[in-house]
Order: sequence, then C-alpha cells, then structure tokens
Amino acid sequence: METSVVLDFLGDLRRTHMCGDLRASDAGQTVLLMGWAHRRRDHGSVIFIDMRDRTGHTQAIFHEEVDAVVHKRAEEVRAEYVIAVEGVVAHRSKETINPNMPTGEVEVVASKIWILNESRTPPFPMEEHVEVAEEVRLKYRYVDLRRPQMQRNIILRSKIAFAVRQQLTGQGFMEIETPYMTRSTPEGARDYLVPSRVQPGTFYALPQSPQIFKQLLMIAGFEKYFQIVRCFRDEDLRADRQPEFTQIDIEMSYPQQPQIFAVVEPMVQEVCKVAGYQVATPFPRITYAVAMENYGSDKPDMRIPPMHPVQDLLPELANAGLPLVAIHIPACGAPSRKERDEFKAFGQERGLRVYDDAKRLERDYPGQMAKVRERCGAKEDSLLVLAAWAGEPKGHRPAETVFQACGQLRLHCANKFNDRHKLLDPKNFQFLWVVDFPMFEWNDEDNRWVAAHHPFTSVHDEDIDLLTADPARCRAKSYDLVLNGVELGSGSIRIHRRDVQAKVFAAVGFSDDEAHRRFGYLLDALEYGAPPHGGVALGLDRLVMILAGESSIREVIPFPKTARGTDLMSDAPAAVPDKALRELGLALRTPGK
Ligand code: AMO
Repeated sequence: METSVVLDFLGDLRRTHMCGDLRASDAGQTVLLMGWAHRRRDHGSVIFIDMRDRTGHTQAIFHEEVDAVVHKRAEEVRAEYVIAVEGVVAHRSKETINPNMPTGEVEVVASKIWILNESRTPPFPMEEHVEVAEEVRLKYRYVDLRRPQMQRNIILRSKIAFAVRQQLTGQGFMEIETPYMTRSTPEGARDYLVPSRVQPGTFYALPQSPQIFKQLLMIAGFEKYFQIVRCFRDEDLRADRQPEFTQIDIEMSYPQQPQIFAVVEPMVQEVCKVAGYQVATPFPRITYAVAMENYGSDKPDMRIPPMHPVQDLLPELANAGLPLVAIHIPACGAPSRKERDEFKAFGQERGLRVYDDAKRLERDYPGQMAKVRERCGAKEDSLLVLAAWAGEPKGHRPAETVFQACGQLRLHCANKFNDRHKLLDPKNFQFLWVVDFPMFEWNDEDNRWVAAHHPFTSVHDEDIDLLTADPARCRAKSYDLVLNGVELGSGSIRIHRRDVQAKVFAAVGFSDDEAHRRFGYLLDALEYGAPPHGGVALGLDRLVMILAGESSIREVIPFPKTARGTDLMSDAPAAVPDKALRELGLALRTPGK
C-alpha cells in the first residue's frame, strides 16, 4: 500500500517523557514525546495536536510564525497517526487551562515533528464514552484496546496478576507450570481436543483446569503451589464465561478449610487494594443449606436482604408441604400494577405461585402479615412478595427447588427496582464463603448422581457412610468464594486415600475400569504416599471484571471470543486445508451423525 504522507524513521530518537506525566513544574524543559495524534485542531496559523500514549494526553502546539516547515508537517497529521514531537513545555494561558486533564496546565510548544506512521480513519473514536457495537469493537480489537477504559482494565489486570504473584510467593507458594496438552479433566464441561499427528486417532484434551496436576504436585512434595493459568472449557458462553479463561490456581498440603481461607483472604484483600478498595477480612461464611434457604442461590448477593420462610405464619398459602417464602426488598415504593404483573409472570414461569399484592394480603391476613413484616424487617416502602410452589414437588431436594426459584425472583425484583433502592452498588463488595456443599447433584440427562464440585473432593468425615446410603445428604468438604452474586472461586479438601476415591467413583457410576482408563495415573499416585491436601481456584477474569466495574469478562480480556466462540478479528475457528486433515488421519463428518 502506498502511504499518503512521507514517513520519518524512528532512527535513534528517544522519548524523554510520557504524555501523561508533564506538569507545571516541567515548564521550560525540552521534551520529546511519542504517541498517537488523538485529535488535531487547525486554527490556520496555529495547530493543536492532542497527543496520547498509554499514560495520558498532552497538547502540542505548532505556530506557523515560529517554524512554517514544522507547522506544514503538522497539517498533514490525522487521527491515530503515530508521531514524535520535540518542544519546550510551557504554561498555558489562564483561559486555556484545562482542569479536567492532569496535564491541562501545560502544553508543548513544538519545534520538531516526525510522522512515524499514518493510520486509516479509525472505525470509531478513541473516546471514553462512545457507543460502538461489540462486533465492531472485537473486529478491530487492537484499536478498541486503545480506548481509555480498555487501557485501564488491562493495566488493572496486569497489576492484579502481579499482586497475586507477590502475595502468594510471600506466603511461600511456588508458581509451577502444568501441561496444556493433556488428558481430559472432569470439571463438567466438554473438552477441547487436539489431534496427535504422530499417533493418529489419538487426541490430547486441553485442560479444563490443572486439577489433577496440582494434586500430583502435592504428592510430588511441593507442598505449596500456585499458578496463574489458562483453562479451556467447551461450554455455553455467557457474560461471565469464556471458552478460555484464567484461574488463580492454588494447592497446599495438610490444610483444613481455615488454612485455605487464610491464604486466599489476604490475597484478595491486597488485590482489592490495588484496585483502590478496602475490604475487611475474614469474609463471612455460610453453609450451602443456609445460602439456599436465605438467598435461594449458592452464590448469594448479600447486598440485598435475605428471604424468609413464612409457612409457619401463613400455612394456608403454602403448597404440598413446601416452603412459603417472603421476598423483601427495601425502599422500592409501591409497585405499579404493570410491574407486579411482570414479576408475577417471571415467578410463574419458574413454577411459583406468586402473591404479588401485599395490600390485599394485609387486608385478608392482617395479623399474620404483621408478623411476616416483622420477620423480614419490612418497612412501609419495602417491596414484599410471597411465593409458594405451584405444582407437585420437584427434584431430589424439593424445598431447594422452591428456594432456587424464589431466589431468582428476588434477584429479578432487586434488579428491576435498583434505580429506587440502589442497593446493587457495584462498589459495595460483599465477599463471602459458602461452605459444605452437597457432594452430589442429580443429573436428569444421565439419570445418575454426579459430583457437585469434582470427584476428587473429600466428603465430611461423618458423612462417609452416606456415600452409598444416601448420596443426596452427603456433604463435601468444598467451598466457594462468592462476590456480589458471582462465583469467584471454588475449591475443596481433596481425597488423598485410594480406598475413599474408589468409593466416590463408584457413587458417581464410574466402573473400576472406567476410573482406571480416565484417571489411572492419579489413582496410582494416591498409592504412593499422597499427603492430605486441598486447594482452590479463583477466576481471574471475574475478579478483574468486578473490580473494574464491568459486567462482562470480555471487557477485561484483551482478545475475547463472542458468545459463539468466534474470534472476530482472526476469524477463528476456521476450516483447515484437506492436507492438514490427511496428515492427522482425520475426515470430517456431520456433527451427531
Ligand atoms: P471451578 O470449575 O469452579 O473449579 O472453576 C474455578 C473458577 O474459575 C472460574 N471459571 C470461569 N471463568 C470464566 N469462564 C469460564 N468458562 C469459567 N469456568 C470457571 C470461576 C470459577 O469459580 N479445579 C477446580 C478448583 C479447585 O477445586 O481447586 C475448578 O476448576 O470463577
């Protein structure tokens, strides 16, 4: 491509300052800046170029009367051209001081300019608040990343990763790498497969997590491991899920739950500090059972008050021996008829019978409703909704099914009325640990129990017999770190005994053969003096997302994929030439056939 301007070479030019660094105290200094031409304003004999680099902006000024040649060259500059400017830092005149810019008191009176590269007209302006379709942003991601918000997010991510490394190495952990080309690890999603050319017909799986390897590192005697590691999962994508994402992965020998928390809490506290927030430790802890009953979720958003079972106060409204739940959200004011209809329909779609008309309930059941209000701490302007199950009991833990539906209704209402109560403040960080998860979940599709966390998780010592007797009631030594309704991390004390591992595999329906075929190497390793061990993994993307005040992890990942798993910039995934398939011994077929 022909260039439309004559370009200069970088040669041995060296920048002396960053654009964002200049202050009034630098006045009189000769500086050389490099960066993009953010904006150019041409006032005839005077040209202003707002220069930008990663640290900020500085205004350069070109006077025709000072140097006509340099002024002429500045005339050629367009948005996003890459330039170098030499000049003297000068105070701006009083009327032109820009108090909104850190460098707004000064400007650089330019004596030289080099145009190092030109740019096509960018697909969107590099401004803070521009509405651009996400597809366009992702297609031109390298341009999108220049925008201040994206620069802030990615820089914050880097600082957070550094703080994590510092904290954990300070606590005696070692960063150890584990392989990316490996065998399947069961984390509940599908694997991404990589065909082997050397051994046709065989495949590596990209790791869904380094779970088994970090356990092997404990058996291998490293005692305290961590890794900031990429994981790969072929699952349906959402705002907080990407096919490749990053975990802060931790494992240690001889811990109980409190020791794991004692590692994670100061690390998270430090990370928040890096992002400019103070959070108090220790984080609150609640059991899974309490989380379900009070919040209808295993990742409760504690910024909104809990729900309350009230079937004892109004048994006539409960159904099938299942809970009647009061949902209370403060400072909403009376909802309109239309609003009530909307959230009622939302609850009904989830199997609930919704009592949306608090006034009517109060007329019909004045005494009981006064007690309901008292139990919830509801005030005059609170939204108060009661919900019961509409049909037959459902699931292996039917009360939980009701709480879950109510939990969704609670969140729905909280979001709907947030502009009134403003409780969902993204800068109010409510961390908590949810502990004692059930060991198993029922999988309707496969008609069997599956491990709720993963099958390497220990059961409570006193629940071992329930493994076979009553899997539904068997509790795991597992825990989740939750922040504002988002599951930030998950971990467990592991099984270190071969005999217990065999029992858990049996409970989830793995035959000895299958267990051996899939995880034989771990089972073998457990027979060679495996110490008790446990760990946790935090989603780095989710942590940065929340601390950056974003609502999608795509905003904190430099090159993310779309909901369909596409990289719009490189257009991956892509077909490969037939020759490549032949080399791998592969032939394509229609999926599912
Ligand atoms: P888990 O599967 O819960 O546990 O994952 C740990 C954390 O990783 C993050 N995460 C994701 N982030 C973005 N996109 C995804 N697709 C995605 N999937 C998970 C979440 C989650 O809490 N091996 C265990 C950990 C352990 O037991 O030590 C594991 O991977 O924030």
